Amino acid sequence: MSNKNKTLLVTGGAGFIGSHLVRLLVNKYPDYRIVNLDKLTYAGNLANLKDIEHKENYSFIKGDIVDAVFLDELFATHQFDGVIHLAAESHVDRSITDPMSFINTNIIGTVNLLNAARKVWGDFTDKLFYHVSTDEVYGSLGETGFFTEETAYDPRSPYSASKASSDHLVRAYHHTYGMPIVISNCSNNYGSFQFPEKLIPLFINNIKHKKALPVYGDGKYTRDWLWVEDHATAIDLIYHQGKVGDTYNIGGNNEWKNIDLIHVLCDLMDELLDRPKGDSRNLITYVKDRAGHDRRYAIDASKLMNELGWEPTIQSTEGLKTTAQWYLANMDWMENITSGDYQKYYQEQYAER
Ligand code: NAD
Ligand code: DAU
Repeated sequence: MSNKNKTLLVTGGAGFIGSHLVRLLVNKYPDYRIVNLDKLTYAGNLANLKDIEHKENYSFIKGDIVDAVFLDELFATHQFDGVIHLAAESHVDRSITDPMSFINTNIIGTVNLLNAARKVWGDFTDKLFYHVSTDEVYGSLGETGFFTEETAYDPRSPYSASKASSDHLVRAYHHTYGMPIVISNCSNNYGSFQFPEKLIPLFINNIKHKKALPVYGDGKYTRDWLWVEDHATAIDLIYHQGKVGDTYNIGGNNEWKNIDLIHVLCDLMDELLDRPKGDSRNLITYVKDRAGHDRRYAIDASKLMNELGWEPTIQSTEGLKTTAQWYLANMDWMENITSGDYQKYYQEQYAER
């Protein structure tokens, strides 16, 4: 593919990972046109992109990927060379209380994008549809072992089932119609601009406000945490150098049991807020478990490392500290998104636990 004058559609670019990816692409490729399509749901926030919104190679379009007619018009107008598809409903707890919005956006929305691209992409020369997915499609691990690209799909929440379905559809368009695609499945991300429904920003915000820290079940669930900017770098690399039709796992080789990570975070927050050691740990409250909670995720990212030379750059304790410092320095960002509907969400989600 030529590296010049590329027009790239990024969906979900106002969300957590999408905004980091858009920033990277806009800054790294001044000759590309980066078009960010986002519905601006509760999770989408243009404040995440303030520093690049004025750049000439960037534009934002508000729209819903569930609207097929809108997408067809968009693709006819813009002549996209590539799509990097991140738009999704992304929070497991919300998928338990409201599965249909996950089916609509994650499955129907993905098929709408595939169809819109297929209609205008002719023989597919120099085109690429990159689907950003999750390690949750592989299900849950026991005490040992890792997810590889060959692990059979075994999704267990409405969220992961909707993402698995979208992965299958993307592969089906490759095999059936010859559409050039690539898929990546990534582990848990953390860093700046993450909506405070996910563990790390939620707990940082609660600690700041001396609110209870709701630990699900026994707290011994394990996640493999990746610095979000390392995910963005991996997506850039895979988009430009990945093998068409292939899947790449992305992970930080950075497993933590929830409670161990929470202890480190609490101690860090005590230090940063100049509170007595142990203050934040006192907020830990064990609550009713998440329904169908997956016990452990761990990614084997050796294919991406060996074939494309990707490496995660930030280790977790350092990354956690930088993350906590970022949220504390940006409490206005946090307060803007935790007023209004967020309070209602929080009550409903946590009241009965
Ligand atoms: P997020 O919830 O922060 O952002 C999702 C974005 O998609 C938001 O900006 C939202 O407004 C937009 N969106 C939602 N529905 C839309 C619709 N119908 N039309 C257009 N835009 C819509 O999510 P995230 O954590 O940044 O995740 C991005 C992608 O990466 C998702 O596909 C997710 O499955 C995947 N992923 C996330 C993680 C993680 O740890 N957060 C890990 C692996 C993979
Ligand atoms: O693995 C990748 C996935 O990681 C992504 O596909 C998802 O979009 C993303 O949300 C994330 O899913 P998780 O469910 O693992 O993330 P979450 O931050 O919701 O939870 C992390 C762990 O912390 C999980 O074991 C549940 C637990 N937890 C979470 C919350 C919000 C708690 O104990 N208490 C909480 O209040």
